[in-house]
Amino acid sequence: IKTIGVLTSGGDAPGMNAAIRAIVRQGITKDLRVKGIQRGFAGLLQGEFVDMKARGVSDTLQRGGTILGTARCPEFMTEEGQKLGAKICRENEIDGIVVIGGDGSFRGAQKLAALGINTIGIPGTIDLDIACTDYTIGFDTAVNTAMEAIDKVRDTSSSHERCSIIEVMGRGAGYIALWCGLANGAEDILLPEIYDYDEQKLVDNITRNFKRGKKHHIIINAEGIGHSTSMARRIEAATGIETRATILGHMQRGGSPTCKDRVFATTMGCKAVDLLCEGASNRIIAIKNGELVDYDIDEALAMKKSIPEYFYQISRNLAI
Ligand code: F6P
Repeated sequence: IKTIGVLTSGGDAPGMNAAIRAIVRQGITKDLRVKGIQRGFAGLLQGEFVDMKARGVSDTLQRGGTILGTARCPEFMTEEGQKLGAKICRENEIDGIVVIGGDGSFRGAQKLAALGINTIGIPGTIDLDIACTDYTIGFDTAVNTAMEAIDKVRDTSSSHERCSIIEVMGRGAGYIALWCGLANGAEDILLPEIYDYDEQKLVDNITRNFKRGKKHHIIINAEGIGHSTSMARRIEAATGIETRATILGHMQRGGSPTCKDRVFATTMGCKAVDLLCEGASNRIIAIKNGELVDYDIDEALAMKKSIPEYFYQISRNLAI
């Protein structure tokens, strides 16, 4: 192979730039030309390519977001869009593509592979919701950002003896909520995977905690459950305890990546180039039991992942 492309797709995640930088420089080290594809699959369909040079990725390792831009692209979900994408790759002499994103992006990579363009996927999402891997680029930074924000809300919540509902991202997955729940010592964690609460139980728990002498009641609510503002109104009415909702939102997706995100994004980026050089295609890179491994995309997309219930159970035991 002579030329490879790289794109970021779906929601951005801190550490994506570290992966892009690694792909560009590992590619150049292996005598490849590297083309950056802007705005994900949408940019591919418009032929938005930039030649990537070693100096061009200087000073990007520590930056949040993605220098290539990203987009969600409904057109690429159609057979026509996928065929056009493969044709544009061939016209631009792109022999292989590294796709950094989540499951939706890997489905796009899978289709390109079936059309003869070698593809390697790298898991990039703050949600940690990719079944084949224990790690996704951006999760570590996002949970640290959320954890620090929740510490701050807790300060004011204690001063005013309030209940605070803090909503964190994660789409349908509760990993950010669960990790913050443990890291912040939350009194309650509401996860889409284990939502065994009726609201009356929650209300009773809050009342009991204040009677026990707690100065605040922190509820981490996963986005997949949502409705934090209306929940706060109902809880305040039922308990008589002032209740506020804070939705952390997109701040969780930005900022400088942590050491873990930089290191794993870098190793995954280099591994993706190595795999393309070996002629591999339709693979996803993953971290399993601390090892850098890769899986067939079809197999990876069929895998299931569950929330670690022990983590949840102990959070209940410690919230006394
Ligand atoms: O997948 C990352 C994520 O931030 C989710 O946690 C969230 O549900 C979604 O993206 C938000 O997407 P958008 O930025 O398009 O509103």
